[in-house]
Amino acid sequence: MKRPCLVLSILCCAVSLAFAQTQESPDAGTEKDIPGLAALYRKYFDIGTCIETTQLAGAPAELAVKHFSSITPENCMKPERIEPAEGTFTFDAADATVDFAVARGLKVRGHTLVWHQQNPKWLFKDENGGKVSKKALIARLETYIKTVVSRYRGKIYAWDVVNEPTDSNGLRRSEWLDIIGPEYIELAFRFAHEADPKAKLFLNEIDTIDGKKGDTIRTLVRSLRAKKAPIDGLGLQFHITLFYPGIPAVSDALRKYNALGVDLHITELDMSLNADTKVKRGNAPPDLLVRQAHRYRELFELFKRTKRITNVTFWGFQDSRSWLTYSPTIKADWPLLFDAYLKPKLAFWGLVDPARLPADVEIKQAGNTFAGFAVKGTPLVDGVEDAVWTKAPAMDIVIFVQGKGATGAGRALWDGKNLYVFVKVKDPLLSKKSANDYEQDSVEIFVDEKNNKSFDYKEDDAQYRVNFTNDFSSRGNPAKIVSAVAVTSDGYAVEAAIPFRFALPKPGTKIGFDLQINDDQGKGRRESYSKWNDPTNESYRNTSGFGTLVLK
Ligand code: XIL
Repeated sequence: MKRPCLVLSILCCAVSLAFAQTQESPDAGTEKDIPGLAALYRKYFDIGTCIETTQLAGAPAELAVKHFSSITPENCMKPERIEPAEGTFTFDAADATVDFAVARGLKVRGHTLVWHQQNPKWLFKDENGGKVSKKALIARLETYIKTVVSRYRGKIYAWDVVNEPTDSNGLRRSEWLDIIGPEYIELAFRFAHEADPKAKLFLNEIDTIDGKKGDTIRTLVRSLRAKKAPIDGLGLQFHITLFYPGIPAVSDALRKYNALGVDLHITELDMSLNADTKVKRGNAPPDLLVRQAHRYRELFELFKRTKRITNVTFWGFQDSRSWLTYSPTIKADWPLLFDAYLKPKLAFWGLVDPARLPADVEIKQAGNTFAGFAVKGTPLVDGVEDAVWTKAPAMDIVIFVQGKGATGAGRALWDGKNLYVFVKVKDPLLSKKSANDYEQDSVEIFVDEKNNKSFDYKEDDAQYRVNFTNDFSSRGNPAKIVSAVAVTSDGYAVEAAIPFRFALPKPGTKIGFDLQINDDQGKGRRESYSKWNDPTNESYRNTSGFGTLVLK
């Protein structure tokens, strides 16, 4: 009697271990006795989720129907999937998703018609492999939009017509902009409107709380409206973290977006708890889950007060399936309302019954604390390593946040006026094929002069980027810098002078500082990037992970 039992329990153990590893569980299923989320918020807005076709059956489907009133296909309606070869349309997955929703009375947000990512290879090429002409690309745009939008007329209530057309410097450099010019945006809205005059048409944007970018987005929406382009609304993606952006910044931005007078959808809400790509698996730290629940509650209070918000869509529901766990690189994360077993997290209760939450906790973001030294000295800024540089210790730029590729070392000097930085990069193949500056072979210098390691950029914070041909770009509140570049036998070197504005240049002064090397290995996109200190992808907007540079 004993034996089979033991065998059985060993077997069970093996089975449950296997499931634990794939983050699935035989008893993963929806909890039946909890309130449905969307029903609770009906008088304010729809609540949605993105969904993959693999989630249209079983427990995930059951959960989606119980808690959400709107769905967005996560990938199957993107151009690379819908029209993989010119004239060959593959609608199976998109049809299955729309049919699923229609049969259950769920609304569908179509995502997305025009984007700079997830496009088929042929789209921007002519028959000889060269760049397609403007006229031909407009014709492709029209055929694509009209074919797809008219197929789902009456079934898809809102479309993300143009996705992510801006960045903090203005219109995003993309093949659409490059080949057609700024009017591609307006044309896309007109084609979609002709195909389904009743569908609500949205411009959808990422990082919308960033002040400068917010201004760009609002200006773009106003100019489209002034041209009588058929745009109904603005989608705010809301991929946020536990720390960024702060609630006051969100409140301020929502007030400004509300005043635009168009419908607002929160289209891709998730809240990352981990930015460290070295953490690949494990359970979420309990205090982070508590803070996450309170932060979701605070956000929804703002959403409820923002009259024009009519849909709040999460980018998924099951933590273990979130895109943040695999894109752009594999890491652990717990950004959503339900865990790997589809059980409601505290974040769920934050939205449904906040009285059940434990008291809020304060979280300090763990940052690396490498200290580097800048030594007194004044070099000639010409891309050549003068003798004075040998006094400054090297800072290795070898922590990979994504992929593997170019590395290097930086050195820093200072005088009464400037901080000087010299970065030697080892990169055998130099490329700036991508239209996006951050995807070209380049060096980034991050400076937080007051060293306050803040969760968002303040007046003293800036990101400077110099590529191997000395093209310059920046973010935050940049000073006027001087830079020079030299191509070397095994890569290139960047030298820069960055004037002090907030820090006192004297021995003992500490400033927040980091270095990054972006590497395109020839494919026209960033395949790897390495850092001196901050192991996260957050340095462009959050200075808390920067290292510290001490003036000697
Ligand atoms: C993401 C998907 O979630 C991933 O599965 C895919 O690999 C990449 O795209 N902004 C968008 C979404 O508009 O389409 C992206 O979705 C996330 C960022």
